[in-house]
Amino acid sequence: MTTHRIAVIAGDGIGQEVVPAAIGCLDVVAARHGIGLDWHQLDWGSDHYRRHGRMMPVDGLDVLAGHDAIFLGAVGVPDIPDVETLWGLLIPIRRRFEQYVNLRPVRTLPGVPSPLAAAGPIDLVVVRENNEGEYSEIGGRLYRGLPEEAAVQEAVFTRHGVTRVARYAAELAAGRSGRLTSATKSNGIVHTMPFWDEVVREVLAEHPDVELRSELIDALAASLVLRPARYDVIVASNLFGDILSDLAGAVTGSIGVAPSANLNPERRHPSMFEPVHGSAPDIAGQGVANPVGQLWSGAMMLDHLGHPEAAAELVSAFESALAGGVRTRDLGGTATTAEFAAAVRGNIEEGT
Ligand code: NAD
Ligand code: IPM
Ligand code: MN
Repeated sequence: MTTHRIAVIAGDGIGQEVVPAAIGCLDVVAARHGIGLDWHQLDWGSDHYRRHGRMMPVDGLDVLAGHDAIFLGAVGVPDIPDVETLWGLLIPIRRRFEQYVNLRPVRTLPGVPSPLAAAGPIDLVVVRENNEGEYSEIGGRLYRGLPEEAAVQEAVFTRHGVTRVARYAAELAAGRSGRLTSATKSNGIVHTMPFWDEVVREVLAEHPDVELRSELIDALAASLVLRPARYDVIVASNLFGDILSDLAGAVTGSIGVAPSANLNPERRHPSMFEPVHGSAPDIAGQGVANPVGQLWSGAMMLDHLGHPEAAAELVSAFESALAGGVRTRDLGGTATTAEFAAAVRGNIEEGT
């Protein structure tokens, strides 16, 4: 039996609810496929911060390095600045383990109505650059106490960073529809975005099988609402990809269903699997969070660990639950997180 050592950080808010729900389902599917999942629970997050002044121990990243994958819920609470919680855990993990691709698939799910009347069938993937771009501490400075206060932050786009994410997106597009959309803003952001366009174009020259379209991010956002079915693979910078992935998730029904994989494609380091959504403090503690984003992220983890059949079985089990009318409140239903997870476990056991 193959056994994988998985670090689990349920984290804050609804992370504490959707992660155990997903693990219960993953255990059932793994058992059916003879896969060993050795979960290593880590109590890191905002409570850890309150107790120790840090989101994770000093050697936290070294602890994670000894695992095959990381399964994360979310971090962030209203009473601690996000910059402490996110830069104390999530962002350092993505960077230290060179998880430079943030893969965020979005699909119309059975029984989940889109809020858009004429959405059509949506099946797209946002490939978000995950290590650099607008998320940079370099050059950041607050000028206080002057007549005009100012905040400055530099965006960093390296040839290496743009090349590797564009190459990943091009290969993904080649195996799907052969169409790739690149999100840009080279009409307004005069240094970084023209450079992004240049490098993406160069990479795509190696891929005559892929048709590249660059779209300005503002028009692209509108177009994702008006004509989402038109898109297949979208490659975007860190910030643009962040925004587009919440938007695309909402267009298919709820941000609660959207999964993500923070990948180190070379597999030199562990990759991390987490839903697109956050800790949702507004519904935390009520047991009503939608666990689909977490479950689907778990399926992406199984796939990454070399178990595509088990991954597909998990996806079809939550799709059957949705199609059968078991839905959480965000999808207009009344099922609790636990009830939804129980329906998914039942479907896996019945092989539906
Ligand atoms: P959010 O994604 O947590 O919530 C946005 C809205 O979507 C809320 O109304 C919430 O109730 C709803 N929602 C989200 N997930 C849901 C689910 N599974 N089921 C049902 N409804 C769901 O975004 P936010 O409120 O802007 O952020 C809350 C905190 O989470 C902040 O501190 C933010 O920085 C953090 N955050 C963390 C991560 C992460 O750890 N990866 C990701 C995004 C946001
Ligand atoms: C996400 C989140 C994070 C991001 C925040 C919480 C720093 O929104 O994973 O999408 O912007 O990457
Ligand atoms: Mn986000």
